[in-house]
Amino acid sequence: MARLLGVWRRHGSRRGSADLAAGIRMLVLEGRLPVGTGLPAEREVAAALGVSRTMVATAWEALRGEGLVVSRRGAGSWSALPPGAHAREDELPGAGDMIDFTRAVPAAVPGVAGAAAAALPRLTAELAGHGYYELGLPVLRERIADRFTARGLPTVPEQVLVTNGSHHVLAMALRLLAGPGDRVLIEQPTYPNAIDAIRAAHALPVPVAMTDEGWDADAIEVALRQAAPRVAYLIVDFHNPTGHRLDAEGRARLGAVLRRTGTPAVVDETHVELDLDGDPLAGPPPLAAFAPDWVIAAGSASKSHWGGLRLGWVRASTEIINRLAAARRSIDLGSPVFEQLVLAELLGDPEPELRERRAELVTRRDALVEAVRTHCPEWTFRVPAGGLSLWCRLPAPVSTRIAVTAQNHGVWVVPASRFAAQGGLERWLRLPFTQPPEVLADGVRRLALAAASVLDSRAAPAVLNPV
Ligand SMILES: Cc1ncc(COP(=O)(O)O)c(C=O)c1O
Repeated sequence: MARLLGVWRRHGSRRGSADLAAGIRMLVLEGRLPVGTGLPAEREVAAALGVSRTMVATAWEALRGEGLVVSRRGAGSWSALPPGAHAREDELPGAGDMIDFTRAVPAAVPGVAGAAAAALPRLTAELAGHGYYELGLPVLRERIADRFTARGLPTVPEQVLVTNGSHHVLAMALRLLAGPGDRVLIEQPTYPNAIDAIRAAHALPVPVAMTDEGWDADAIEVALRQAAPRVAYLIVDFHNPTGHRLDAEGRARLGAVLRRTGTPAVVDETHVELDLDGDPLAGPPPLAAFAPDWVIAAGSASKSHWGGLRLGWVRASTEIINRLAAARRSIDLGSPVFEQLVLAELLGDPEPELRERRAELVTRRDALVEAVRTHCPEWTFRVPAGGLSLWCRLPAPVSTRIAVTAQNHGVWVVPASRFAAQGGLERWLRLPFTQPPEVLADGVRRLALAAASVLDSRAAPAVLNPV
């Protein structure tokens, strides 16, 4: 519990028990201290946190009053949810009425069905073979390599391995490069499934905070030197969730840092084609251009074309590609041939579909921006030049509480703490712009209601019980 709480006391605060209660409240509401978890005795908590027993007793008393802790003499105490935190059945919108803001994933581009039809005759030829392409279908590897070359990084097909999505690349790279107890540098915030993958590899995420402008190369270098992580995981193209993109100068600096410290980096390029204000082929060169021996670029068709293809790729030196292919053999033996044929069709002439994808996302981004400005005028954000989401700064640290309350208003949204290695980030909320404008507007309207009720209930105790 002490570890989950992290830095729970506000700097200079004299209200330790209120801070401790707030920390526990967040853990319970967020589900990281699951309901029904037995809580240690007050004296043990006091010892673990290095505070007085009175402070813990006061915090527990407050939480008991809110229904977040239940105690029974002789049986101890456990975490609970107050009756009001569960929406009543008849108040809950039906699942079909819920607006899902948890996934930043667009539907397929229209050309996928046509590409599948065009791929069918090619499948017939493939059926005579065994269908195992451990490195990927040759025509697809070639088209992926061509796209890297067009983006300013000369690439041959031998430097490409086709995978089941870009997340698969991270899992493979972790298997190759990081063992139990090893450190892995990540940005904070970052893509939550990456944190889970690092933990699943029994490795330790080492977060480096993003700044309002994006990356702090000095902080990254210090962390690489002090923590000596075995590998870094970075999203430099329309970062999830902040939407930042590292410019060419920043890439040159970061590439130099990777070279100087000898750190391999998995660079997640899942969003690279989603350049909403420019031309992806005219963007800054891939980070691998600045540290060719150190970058393992992970790409994906999930956001550019369709997540259901479950196809991605890795681009690295041929030596790394061969080592990754060997590491992959213990996981699976290649990606499905038909889907690869479909993607090869789509990448044969990629521009029309990608243009359509970008145009649709521009409309949706602008609709979301307008909806947030209208319904949540106190929320602030940078309009991202690409990617799939708006990273909103809230007027108070209530991200988790909004996420919990939003369900009663018909919205699912991820609390921002999910984008952090150890929780926190309560002042932020990620809103994806992957749904039609009218759904986005309705979702934001509902979120505004949820936020208002959270902020009102925050204000109430202060008025009733001034301290
Ligand atoms: C940054 C990032 N990386 C990876 C993924 C997963 O991609 P894939 O479907 O290619 O595994 C996502 C999907 O949301 C993502 O946002």
